[in-house]
Amino acid sequence: MATHKLLLLPGDGIGPEVMREVEKIVGWFRKRGVGFETETDLVGGSAYDAHGAAISEDAMKLAQAADAVLFGAVGGAKWDTVPYAVRPEAGLLRLRKDLGLFANLRPAICYPALADASSLKREVVEGLDIMIVRELTGGVYFGEPKEIVTLEDGSQRAVDTQLYHTHEVERIARVAFDLAKKRRNKVSSAEKFNVMKTGVFWRQVVTRIHKAEFSDVELEHVLADNCAMQLVRWPKQFDVIVTDNLFGDILSDIAAMLTGSLGMLPSASLGAEDPATGKRKALYEPVHGSAPDIAGKGLANPIAMIGSFGMALRYSFGLTDEADRLDTAIANVLASGTRTKDIAGPGMNAVGTQDVGDAIVKELEAQS
Ligand code: NAD
Ligand code: IPM
Ligand code: MN
Repeated sequence: MATHKLLLLPGDGIGPEVMREVEKIVGWFRKRGVGFETETDLVGGSAYDAHGAAISEDAMKLAQAADAVLFGAVGGAKWDTVPYAVRPEAGLLRLRKDLGLFANLRPAICYPALADASSLKREVVEGLDIMIVRELTGGVYFGEPKEIVTLEDGSQRAVDTQLYHTHEVERIARVAFDLAKKRRNKVSSAEKFNVMKTGVFWRQVVTRIHKAEFSDVELEHVLADNCAMQLVRWPKQFDVIVTDNLFGDILSDIAAMLTGSLGMLPSASLGAEDPATGKRKALYEPVHGSAPDIAGKGLANPIAMIGSFGMALRYSFGLTDEADRLDTAIANVLASGTRTKDIAGPGMNAVGTQDVGDAIVKELEAQS
């Protein structure tokens, strides 16, 4: 039996609460003969409290050695004033950078049962299935200089640098076009070429890769601000959206609300495929954060985290049947009305985080 090494990094706030529910699902698949081995370590504020850094060197080694990392969420008011380099979020950024996870896939799917849970009208979101492909290891998140400088007159100047190299745009464009070919064959590339040099460059590189390698896929260019508006106006016009690190962060939070809640959006952060082994480094993380406002109350929706594990089944382990089965279980649980507060319909009794995890395990059981 093949063993799949998973590193669990629950993190802070609701991170551990939603990770606990994933552990139930992992346990269920393990009982059914899928060889998952798990280790758990600290990340974010909890790692800072223990080691003075947002991720320890030991945890980084475990992440490098794992077949896939499952990441909960990090951050919280307690660490808002710690130095920038050791903030909880720095742990996540280091994982992304050091593991080379340049491609962040954020699928926004509106489950039929949730068409009324969105803050938008049913007809706008019903049947929605879009994929945001966010560049994850470049752009303004990592460009240098990145600093606050005190000037001679005592005033200060702050700078972040939006920086992209040819290969970074080429490889993320290829990921987007490849995905589109398996979907509805359309890529919308979002940037701001009207004000940013990196936008001009992004558009040029995407156009060149399209012409040379993917001319059978439909490509449109859209300004990122217009893209944000179009996502709310008529999101079903999109299939795959490819965009840079910062625009991707913002557009995916918008897309989350089309599905009903930020607590619904999973993601996969993938590295390049090793040509020798066919394997790639991967980390699976919900799009949401540590949700300090609801942490510790058992209110968090665990579906974004469980769906992220579903993406691991699909993208890291090729366990397509198992991934489909998990998706069906999630859809059935939503249809049965077992929902956390963020997606409970009017007049519906909301349940807790653990009830949703238990219901999904029960559904998996019922399907087999
Ligand atoms: P957030 O995503 O934590 O929360 C935004 C809102 O969505 C809150 O009202 C929250 O209650 C709700 N929400 C989020 N996840 C939910 C879930 N699973 N179920 C139900 N409701 C949910 O964003 P924020 O409040 O802006 O940030 C809080 C902290 O999280 C900050 O420190 C931020 O840096 C961090 N953060 C971390 C990640 C990550 O670890 N990947 C992502 C985003 C934000
Ligand atoms: C996300 C988060 C992160 C980001 C933070 C926590 C570093 O908002 O994954 O969407 O900005 O990328
Ligand atoms: Mn974000």
